[in-house]
Amino acid sequence: MSDTTDGTTFDAAKYRQVLGHFPTGVTVITGMADGRPVGMAVGSFTSLSLDPPQVLFCAGHGSSTWPKIREWGRFCVNILAEDQEDICRVFASKAEDKFAEVGWRPSTLGSPLLTDVLAHIDCEIDDVVASGDHDIVIGGVRHLDVRHEGGPLVFFRGGYGRFTV
Ligand SMILES: Cc1cc2nc3c(=O)[nH]c(=O)nc-3n(C[C@H](O)[C@H](O)[C@H](O)COP(=O)(O)O)c2cc1C
Repeated sequence: MSDTTDGTTFDAAKYRQVLGHFPTGVTVITGMADGRPVGMAVGSFTSLSLDPPQVLFCAGHGSSTWPKIREWGRFCVNILAEDQEDICRVFASKAEDKFAEVGWRPSTLGSPLLTDVLAHIDCEIDDVVASGDHDIVIGGVRHLDVRHEGGPLVFFRGGYGRFTV
């Protein structure tokens, strides 16, 4: 249990446990900083608007990568395939060079497009809305494509799995 600002207590472990029952895909959100690629694993990615085309993700205030992407002003959403769990773990870490073992090339907007991802969405940051301990990052979609027709990496109840029909 943790204290909240209104004096009540809140069970953070229960919050995580209950919200962990909502399955998500996994993306790596990338950008550039001082000529070097940066990126972070993100499960909060979703579509937002068709007209104009927009997507969003939520970036934690504790992330060291997010301020760099914000400064870059753009981001590339890399949707991970079911065999890319290792990549997810690297990009969820605070490793010094997350790109050491990962292939990539610049997207049209110059953000890192990772090798063998299912799809990518190349965005410019349209808006950032702070709420609680996260920023809601709204991206205007500039370019997007499906890269191969495989299954997605799925995150559910704190573990990784695959999608089967
Ligand atoms: C499956 C999964 C989903 C995640 N989703 C998010 C997310 O939506 N937003 C976020 O800020 N961090 C998320 N994280 C945590 C970040 O990847 C991690 O805190 C961050 O990359 C730490 O490194 P940094 O300091 O380089 O940003 C997620 C981690 C995992 C494993």
